[in-house]
Amino acid sequence: MKWTANLEQFPYPFKGPTYRYSNNSIPMHTPISVEITSDYKKEMLLKRNLLTHHPERCYQSLPHTMTGQWEIVELVIDHLAAHYPNQFLVKKRNSTWIFTNNILDEKVEFVFGDDKSLPCEPLAFISHHVQEDLILMMQRDGDLYLDAGQLCFPANWSLAFNLGMKFKSIHHPIPGFKEEGLDDRILQFLMRLDAGNPWERLNWSLMAGDRMDTSLETFDQWGQLRKQVTKENAGKLVHIRVEVQKLFRLPRTNSILFTIHTHLLPLEQLAANSEWLQQFYEILSELPSHIADYKGISLYKDAVLDYLEKQLERVRAT
Ligand code: HEM
Repeated sequence: MKWTANLEQFPYPFKGPTYRYSNNSIPMHTPISVEITSDYKKEMLLKRNLLTHHPERCYQSLPHTMTGQWEIVELVIDHLAAHYPNQFLVKKRNSTWIFTNNILDEKVEFVFGDDKSLPCEPLAFISHHVQEDLILMMQRDGDLYLDAGQLCFPANWSLAFNLGMKFKSIHHPIPGFKEEGLDDRILQFLMRLDAGNPWERLNWSLMAGDRMDTSLETFDQWGQLRKQVTKENAGKLVHIRVEVQKLFRLPRTNSILFTIHTHLLPLEQLAANSEWLQQFYEILSELPSHIADYKGISLYKDAVLDYLEKQLERVRAT
């Protein structure tokens, strides 16, 4: 699957008339860890700005992750060069690599595996060239640990808080996840992930506003907007937020690269597609309150439903 930012290729996340938590991962047909969309330049500017001004919030790593970080550099650069040959190039001469980013007009030379040959850690370096957030999960003692990550566009969570945590602890806040045994089933699934057979899934939420960097640390700056949603302004103010998440086994360190590509679409654009409008209305009407609460939708869910109903009436009248 290849998704870009325009409406036709928006990663619309729903199947069927209801939504429940599940392991909705599917095997990837085209194994590519990162994708370039028409928002590339805008989002790279935003991401680089965040990395510069809020380094602790956006980047964390433990010292034993360097080999895993280099594996990520290799995987991502190879994917960029193979899938976007006009935009990205890599020349490898023994361990010396010259990486060219034609979109940003940048060229970087480094010695693969030599930490000192880059101005920052390898994961931080490659993060400056892709729209995705990149998380490194290291596998040991029958578990997965979040040991390094670059996270500029989180959906209300904190990288600094989660650093070093196990998979189940990370997912502890999700209602029903542990009780329904989902956390264990997904952990077992992840630990069986093979190199060369990556998986992907979609996660969705709603948010008031179109801010990408909705970290837990900055909740006071963006959470208040939820109170301003009305049925009149919901079409423009409320956005569906979809994360395309990909999972790649890194064979040398037996760790996992988890990439998150965040897409935002105002509800009025979602409502422009009458099938999406109908289906999303049904899903939101039926959404259990524990899921709506966890996703932070409850405060303005009724206003959104009123807006969607009005749009449905408009469609029926035409
Ligand atoms: C392996 C890398 C993964 C990492 C680092 C990760 C991390 C997270 C984090 C930080 C949250 C937010 C928790 C909070 O509220 O503080 C979350 C939510 C969630 N995760 Fe994961 N996750 C991973 C993989 C998966 C997989 C493979 C699945 C399912 C197949 C999954 C399913 C979910 C679901 C359903 C939520 C709730 C999202 C919502 O309702 O909006 N995660 N994850």
